[in-house]
Amino acid sequence: MAYSEKVMEHFANPHNVGEMKDADGVGEVGNPKCGDIMRMYIKVEDDVITDVKFMTFGCGAAIATSSMATDLVKGKRIEDALKLTNKAVMEALDGLPPVKVHCSVLAEQAIKAAVSDYYRRRGIDPTPIVGEIPECEEGHCHV
Ligand code: FES
Repeated sequence: MAYSEKVMEHFANPHNVGEMKDADGVGEVGNPKCGDIMRMYIKVEDDVITDVKFMTFGCGAAIATSSMATDLVKGKRIEDALKLTNKAVMEALDGLPPVKVHCSVLAEQAIKAAVSDYYRRRGIDPTPIVGEIPECEEGHCHV
C-alpha cells in the first residue's frame, strides 16, 4: 500500500494539531473497529470558522486526512464547511489507497460533529449531520 507524497507530508507534519480550550464546537468521532478517534475543535466568529484544531489517535491516513480537512475548513463559512466531503479531502491529498478511504470519511464526519456541537451550544437544532461511521476493513487498521 503506497501513500501519496502529500499524505506522507501531512502525516509527518500535520497542520492544526492540538487542543482548543475556548472552542465554540467540539466533535469527536471514532471507529469502533480499529479504535481510532478524531476530535475536532472549531472557533467561530460571524459564522466563519476562524480557527480549527484536531487531536487524532489513529492510523497515518487518519492523521493526514484530519490535517487536510482542518486546512480546508479554516476561514470558511460554516455552511461551506458542512459541504466538505471526504472525496474533496482525498483529492487534496492526491488520493488514498482504497482500503484507507474510510479514514477520510472519519475526517469529514469529525468536522460535521464539531459544527453540530456548535449548533447545539447556540440552541440551534442540530439536525443529525453526522452520518454512519464506516468500519475499517479487516487487517488495515493502524497501517
Ligand atoms: Fe482506522 Fe484509518 S481510521 S485505519
